[in-house]
Amino acid sequence: MNINTLKNDFPFFKNNKLVYLDSGATAQKPQIVLDSMNEFHKSYCANIHRSAHGLGNKATQEYENARQTVSKFLNAKTKDEIVFTSGATQGINLVAYAYVKEHFKHVIISGLEHHSNIIPWQIIDKSLHVIDFKKDLHVDLEHFESLLKSYPNSFVSLVETSNTFGITHPIKEMIQLARKYGSKVLVDAAQSSVHSAIDVQDLDADFLVLSAHKLYGPTGIGALYIKKDLHEKCKAFQGGGGAIKEVTYEKTVYMPIPYMYEAGTQHIAGAIGFASALEYIRNIGFNLIQKHEQELIAYTNEKLLHVKNLIRYTDTKNATGNISFNIKGIHHYDLGVLLDKQGVQIRVGHHCVQPTMKSLGIKGTVRISFGLYNTKEDIDKFFYALERSIKMLED
Ligand code: ALA
Repeated sequence: MNINTLKNDFPFFKNNKLVYLDSGATAQKPQIVLDSMNEFHKSYCANIHRSAHGLGNKATQEYENARQTVSKFLNAKTKDEIVFTSGATQGINLVAYAYVKEHFKHVIISGLEHHSNIIPWQIIDKSLHVIDFKKDLHVDLEHFESLLKSYPNSFVSLVETSNTFGITHPIKEMIQLARKYGSKVLVDAAQSSVHSAIDVQDLDADFLVLSAHKLYGPTGIGALYIKKDLHEKCKAFQGGGGAIKEVTYEKTVYMPIPYMYEAGTQHIAGAIGFASALEYIRNIGFNLIQKHEQELIAYTNEKLLHVKNLIRYTDTKNATGNISFNIKGIHHYDLGVLLDKQGVQIRVGHHCVQPTMKSLGIKGTVRISFGLYNTKEDIDKFFYALERSIKMLED
């Protein structure tokens, strides 16, 4: 397989000459994902888990096959451990209401969390404790252990890879540490899942969330892994059709997980497209994806050395997927606008990590974020446009 021609699989790039370096926000979709969703809408569109007719059975089967595909992708023990959600954000909110609210007083998070891993804990009124990061933005494990000691049996919720800086936490080590102090752990794999293989059994995660749209799948669908041992402790979240065994005016008897959390008509086409995207990734393989991304990162890193007045926040050599920087004296937003005018899409701003920005004493950054379709040519175009933008703003 030639990774440098993968762009051809994505219709988005057939219709324009844009340099898309914003895959951390959302990735483009390969044709097979679009085809699988189209096929559902064209040939067997029906509701799932409630129809007696053949079409409904076919839709149900494809939806449950999709659950099996997600389960395999994460190496879960059974497919019942996979709940379809609208994305990683909904997954965290679900865990907050259905599990953490009743069982924990303290929640420990890292200093690099996205707002979606801060706000849900505030909404359910938990005491939030934040692990410091070191100068190089890597997590301070000693501080983590001291928090675990001070607040034993707390809930720990950690991003695996930072959406802004591409720093990857030593998540397995952190889970093992949390276990020593009786804590349960949620992993936010929204950014990491597209860059390397996840094995929930090997990690020993209790909960893990991801979003399909960052994995070359559709928007509005994601998955929440819930370890089987915890199913009995998780309460109902949203009520509605499909989630129940029996309803009377007095009480409701719920279906087991995952169905208990899938009330209402689900994003059936989304689940089917999600599974196609995971198959697409599986066919390429993470070995090739990682090799390609490391080459792109190394190439970018080398080029950044020649950018005047560059402010780096991390050692970009070891970044996963995302790189952030600023140019002294230039507002990141101005760069974003000028780059866009030259056909280069990147993200600028606070990247939904305002508390981290505050700790660093900045308002935002310029973020480049890679997908498997990016090439060295894209990076050359980005740097050409960057130099031109800087010149214009300096004049
Ligand atoms: N969380 C996404 C990002 O980092 C939207 O851009």
